[in-house]
Amino acid sequence: MNDRNNTIAGWVLFAGIVALGASIVTGEMYKGERPETMGYPIEGVVEEGAGGEAEKPIAFFLQTADAAKGEAQFKKCAACHTIDAGGANGIGPALFGTLGKPIAGHAGFAYSDALKGVGGTWGWDNMSAWLANPKRFAPGTKMAFAGLSNPQDRADLLLFLNSKGGTLTVPPPPAEDAPAAGEDAAKADAEASSTAEKAEDVPVVPGAEEGRGKGDADAQGR
Ligand code: HEC
Repeated sequence: MNDRNNTIAGWVLFAGIVALGASIVTGEMYKGERPETMGYPIEGVVEEGAGGEAEKPIAFFLQTADAAKGEAQFKKCAACHTIDAGGANGIGPALFGTLGKPIAGHAGFAYSDALKGVGGTWGWDNMSAWLANPKRFAPGTKMAFAGLSNPQDRADLLLFLNSKGGTLTVPPPPAEDAPAAGEDAAKADAEASSTAEKAEDVPVVPGAEEGRGKGDADAQGR
């Protein structure tokens, strides 16, 4: 008899522990955070600026560029290029006096048709694009270099290259509020889709499905 009472008491205790544990777990699960602004996010509106942010123009990074750091960067190039006045062509063309001069213009170097076909002169922007990704800039180039993805590294290097016979002057800083290409379009898109969603909502019963679901969750959480 006593034994049985103990068994029953044990089960009751056990059940209590399980119930307590379960309530802690569900409490964690349903702990609703009250949002700053009520309502539910409309897809495509909140996403603005999330990821894929356009890189700032190289002029921005040139403002704080450091030619000494650029000289260190140039170690990555030195296997194929000379940079000092009178330097010889190697695997790549001599680079003294390249910025401000015609693309593929160093005498005595056999450039690829890809680079010869680009045309124009080397400036800050096209040199930055070339060094970021030579194969994208001139598909078929024979410069076997993956590219420098960090824009500040490129700006440092550009300043160093320009100090070696280049003729360019550092551009003024780009206007702060100038929106990066594509940003305006994205904003317009977002606005268009938000008005479209609202328009669709009008004929539907007030308090769309998602809105009600949210209310329920809140009620459980409190
Ligand atoms: C593996 C060898 C190699 C490395 C490393 C290399 N280059 Fe080159 N580079 C070349 C070759 C080859 C060409 C000619 C490309 C062509 O004709 O398509 C070239 C072309 C160039 C040109 C065009 C010059 C002109 O006269 O128009 C520039 C500028 C240049 N390289 C800069 C650099 C810089 C800066 C680095 C380092 C970040 C670098 N390269 C790393 C081989 C290299």
